[in-house]
Amino acid sequence: MADLLTPDYYEYEWVPLESVSLMPSGGALLIWPDGQSLECHPLWLRENSPGPEGIDPRSKENDLDVAKLDLDIRLGVAFVEDGALVVEFHPEGRRASFHPGWLRHVADGQHQPFALLPDPQIWKSQDLPEPPTHEGPLVLQDDAALAKWLNDLLEFGLARLVSLPTDAGVVELVGRRIGVLRDSNFGLTWHVSVDLDPNSTANTDVRLPAHSDLPSRETPPGFQLLHCQENTVAGGHSTMTDGLAVVQHLEQNEPEVLQSLLKSEWIFFNRDEEHDHRWTGPIIDRGDGRVPWTFRAFHPVRGFPAMPQEEIGDAYFAIQRFGHVANSDDFQIRYELHPGDLIAFDNRRVLHGRESFDSTEGTRQLRGTYMDSDEVYSRMRVLHHSVPGLQHSLAFSVARKDSNA
Ligand SMILES: [Fe+2]
Repeated sequence: MADLLTPDYYEYEWVPLESVSLMPSGGALLIWPDGQSLECHPLWLRENSPGPEGIDPRSKENDLDVAKLDLDIRLGVAFVEDGALVVEFHPEGRRASFHPGWLRHVADGQHQPFALLPDPQIWKSQDLPEPPTHEGPLVLQDDAALAKWLNDLLEFGLARLVSLPTDAGVVELVGRRIGVLRDSNFGLTWHVSVDLDPNSTANTDVRLPAHSDLPSRETPPGFQLLHCQENTVAGGHSTMTDGLAVVQHLEQNEPEVLQSLLKSEWIFFNRDEEHDHRWTGPIIDRGDGRVPWTFRAFHPVRGFPAMPQEEIGDAYFAIQRFGHVANSDDFQIRYELHPGDLIAFDNRRVLHGRESFDSTEGTRQLRGTYMDSDEVYSRMRVLHHSVPGLQHSLAFSVARKDSNA
């Protein structure tokens, strides 16, 4: 029974069921000895039953065309055998066994998108004066070290690697430890240095206040990796601000400013001779409640107000207040980037910036790349299952009990 097929590539601990009872709805109520329970709808169980027109052992995916699904299916029989759930579907007569550990992971809410990721910890500069720092060469070789770095990255929204080589390919190497890189019109990886003909304010020596990259896209990049290859200039310190802390502050002290940032929309644009990217959104986008917040904050690409004339004055005031808080010493940390350092951060949560520097006195060469949040989330979930003992050494979010019905 222990080798029962599940619709994924994980090995589940055997968590024997105590009892199962049929429900008036035609489904089943499962109970474990510790009191945990799960109500299973018969159609959901039928879709996930191993075998032909169910879970294919090759793809481990459901290959039942829903057009062929008999919507009147009920459970005729349900019992526990060696701890596993065994059911017979009526009127089909098909019998199926289900791994109790897989069912338990659903009962514990471990199938939820954010279940295996740490809860965000909101920080101000006094809580986190320096980015959480990890040894780069170890992270490149060791999955447990990679998991700890990513856990900090997801919890605080930023995490640094040190002692890496300074080759141009390092940022891609680190990114591929996580997953697929996200291409853009700046290239798969891109250089940050003072150009004679910059197509971005990043490639100048002026100060960059707290901002997020590419708010001009429908979905701005989830994460950004910046690797320092060379830095011989004085100044040019990097800055980071937790956008969630700014929201918390505004909520408590300037709620009307926060309302304006959440409500009033702007058209963002990013263009060069070959590209014309545009998107409309508020400075703080709460999404639909199921995705993390997105901060759209970068004045060089904020083009036009997309709001009634009477809102515009208040909207500019709100942006000014937002910038004042985000760039203040209470919220913003400053740190030096040394050759061999790599800073990774959540581009949609943490606002990054740079102090001005004198480009005539030295060289400052960074190489960066973007990644979708999905890549970071996916790697963290896989590591959670593949690194022995990881779940005990990291503080994961509390699983929510949830019915699949
Ligand atoms: Fe940037």
